[in-house]
Amino acid sequence: MTAPDPVVSVLLDPGWASGALVADVRRGLGERPLRLPPKWLYDDRGSELFDRITRLDAYYPFRAERAIFQRHAAEIAAACDATTLVELGSGTSEKTRLLLDALHDTGRLRRFVPLDVSEGTLRQAAADLSARFPEVAVEAVVGDFTLHLGQLPHGDPSEGGGRLVAFLGGTIGNLYVEERAAFLGALADSLEPGEWLLLGTDLVKSADRLVAAYDDAGGLTAAFVGNCLLVLNRELGADFDPDAYRYVPFWDPTLERMDLRLRAEVPQRVSIPGADLVVDVGLGEEIQVEISTKFRPDGVRRELGVAGFEVTATWTDPDGDFALTLARRR
Ligand code: SAH
Ligand code: AVI
Repeated sequence: MTAPDPVVSVLLDPGWASGALVADVRRGLGERPLRLPPKWLYDDRGSELFDRITRLDAYYPFRAERAIFQRHAAEIAAACDATTLVELGSGTSEKTRLLLDALHDTGRLRRFVPLDVSEGTLRQAAADLSARFPEVAVEAVVGDFTLHLGQLPHGDPSEGGGRLVAFLGGTIGNLYVEERAAFLGALADSLEPGEWLLLGTDLVKSADRLVAAYDDAGGLTAAFVGNCLLVLNRELGADFDPDAYRYVPFWDPTLERMDLRLRAEVPQRVSIPGADLVVDVGLGEEIQVEISTKFRPDGVRRELGVAGFEVTATWTDPDGDFALTLARRR
């Protein structure tokens, strides 16, 4: 069978990159502490850097989640009756192929809907997956999972099963706690009772291993986090001097999250003409770029329960580093 071309819907309007970026920059850099939402890390360069991070020895989350799929994908596929797999923040969908294989083997899978803000990476993944699964309709969505959950395609009632939404990689940990609750609530609202969520969460572990995973000697993670300054320079004509900032990752044991920041080693008056903003960044001042929250199984169960999901199964990798939780919309 020849592979059909994937359908790609673009929900981000053409002015999104500049419009939403301007709003985020005004909000995040217009007051203290300075903060930027991590979705702006993922232009083509950022997605490529993240992909290289996933291959670092010290970056265990990618391998740990993949190990769970290698062992348990068939069980996961058997535990839910979905005919459509939706993937939020899908990136390259590399690990998802293991789940797609297992769902495909059940004979039920009809449709795959990857959604990501990173258009180039998404288009490439959609084309690769269409070629690999010619009988599965690939309907990619260039969208923002904090804005577009209500516009996800529905399962086809004639197919008898609903949707399974996969949110992998531990990306939920990149949301601040109030954003996380809003996201899970919106996701539950967008699903029909009986539809499914498969959530990947990185688990709390020793500070040494966590810091090692986010502070590689080769500087890949520093380049990834610093990429947000290059995005602001390009998209909004800002004049950040990337060399003036040092990457400072640390483990926050109270909030149980990695906190990834850029610290100014030289004071700088930054002008951001596209956002009509001038920011005086003081010596030693930090820009909060990303958090990466780590979870405990009880906390995941509780947060999913509050949002309207019932957990039906949890799998971890052999080292207990990462969890995949299957939950059903009540
Ligand atoms: N799920 C993949 C990729 C994780 S990297 C994995 O497990 O390896 C996080 C992905 O989420 C990136 O591809 C990034 O572009 C995407 N992303 C980040 N914020 C987003 C948002 N608000 N809406 C949609 N995609 C987003
Ligand atoms: C995408 N996300 C789950 C990664 C993480 O581990 O929080 C992003 C990342 N940031 C630095 N390294 C990886």
